[in-house]
Amino acid sequence: MGTTAGTHISVAPDDIQKSKGGAERIPDPGIIVIFGASGDLTKRKLLPALFHLEQAGLLPQNFAVVGVARRDLSETFAADMREGIIEGGGVDGKDAKLDEFVKKISYFATDFDSDDGYTKLKARLQEIDTQAGTKGNRLFYLATAPEYFEDIIDRLGKHGMNKEPEDKSGYVHVVIEKPFGHDLESARELSDNINKVFEEDQIFRIDHYLGKETVQNILVFRFANGIFEHVWNRNYIDHVQITAAESIGIEGRGPFYEKAGALRDVVQNHIMELISFVTMEPPVSFDDHAVRAEQLKVWQSMRQIPLVNTVRGQYGPGTVDGEPVKGYRQEDRVDPKSQTETFVALQMQIENWRWADVPFYVRAGKRMAKRVTEITIEFKQPPMLLFRNTGNARCGDIQPNIISMRIQPDEGISLRFAAKYPGTSMTVCPVTMDFSYAQAFGTSSANGYERLLLDAMLGDATLFAHRDGVEATWAIMTPVLEQWQAHPSKDFPNYAAGTWGPKAAEQLIARDGREWRKL
Ligand code: BG6
Repeated sequence: MGTTAGTHISVAPDDIQKSKGGAERIPDPGIIVIFGASGDLTKRKLLPALFHLEQAGLLPQNFAVVGVARRDLSETFAADMREGIIEGGGVDGKDAKLDEFVKKISYFATDFDSDDGYTKLKARLQEIDTQAGTKGNRLFYLATAPEYFEDIIDRLGKHGMNKEPEDKSGYVHVVIEKPFGHDLESARELSDNINKVFEEDQIFRIDHYLGKETVQNILVFRFANGIFEHVWNRNYIDHVQITAAESIGIEGRGPFYEKAGALRDVVQNHIMELISFVTMEPPVSFDDHAVRAEQLKVWQSMRQIPLVNTVRGQYGPGTVDGEPVKGYRQEDRVDPKSQTETFVALQMQIENWRWADVPFYVRAGKRMAKRVTEITIEFKQPPMLLFRNTGNARCGDIQPNIISMRIQPDEGISLRFAAKYPGTSMTVCPVTMDFSYAQAFGTSSANGYERLLLDAMLGDATLFAHRDGVEATWAIMTPVLEQWQAHPSKDFPNYAAGTWGPKAAEQLIARDGREWRKL
């Protein structure tokens, strides 16, 4: 594997699975059963990720994928997935392992609430066990619309497909896609219902942000280096900003997005996971209990967010990448008077000894000026007496130190600091030290699901959300949603597609004498 700048690295074992002890682990033989397999996720992300694992030699020899959905796609499914692996996974169509892998993919059509369907599915899976030696092990992946989750779980239980062997010699795990519930109460109810059928250690609530290298690297950056953690607190940090901007719109997902909105779609989960990694205390190990316990403490220390510290937006027509695009209310299957937010900005506070009085500014939205997810840690300005008489015509005012973590694209980390501009005067200019993943390690075609799928098969829940965590994040977000519902927005649409969101988002941070970093 090359590590020079610009080298393309295909996914290798150590890209994906340096797990707990750093050793590679290969799961036991088994079948991945994907419910909702006709959706985009399966073709664009899940199958490419599984094939990357196959290329890396991380899948068991005895392995099968069964896609389940309502439409009859038996004839076309495997070929369609092959196409997805090539296009979505950046895989060469002539890859020696590809055709063998595609033979392991099959399809089963059923309604998610048809008992007859589950009887037949169970028999089909047992048949595969006999033919392919998959030993009764199952990873059920729920990639359907959330309203089907309970039906599917229920039926899996009713048909006895939920049970692991008592001696734990095999596994039956279930992966549940987000959103997990639509508020605190529904998330609790969903967990209660799932817990009637599956034990908590069989359940893997997925948040694909935790599969991203750059997100996992936050913990390495903080805890594997000697110099950052000492200043990682309220004594040195002025504030933290998190931006998750997308230039895409809702991509034909009108009915889903109308019910979700940006807060449920990305803030309650992805952004809250990012905050917990940036702020948690060092866990004693990368064991799931240890990591989740520290995350939970952060979320439970967050103050309720008053309405004045929230901004919601909805895009109107505009221009993205030089192309005119529709407004949200003109999108397919969206209410022309929709009150759904496509943009959120929040100011949040964590009330603990490390973070008290350090504001966390968060913004996330669709159809923004560009795609960029970045975390910015801005440090306090040192006393500037020494430099009071230095000219600033060349470089402007002296800037505080910043560590910015580029989650995507252009993955990397940079540190901004002050340097003397060469010359006869003591002119101070901001400069940056930059780490780029591509330059240091080459690029990887992994999409984040590799690690998570592998962990779910192996039963390692470190990078998955736990019931308590999901409820803690909903406990913060649900009151915001309730306040918004009680006070409908009067100015939607309030930002043009292709911009950085509504004016009120600028004001939210300007009110505290700060501004969003220009990205
Ligand atoms: C998903 C949301 O969870 O995350 C999508 O449902 C969003 O609306 C996506 O586009 C963003 O993921 P990424 O990896 O592109 O940042």
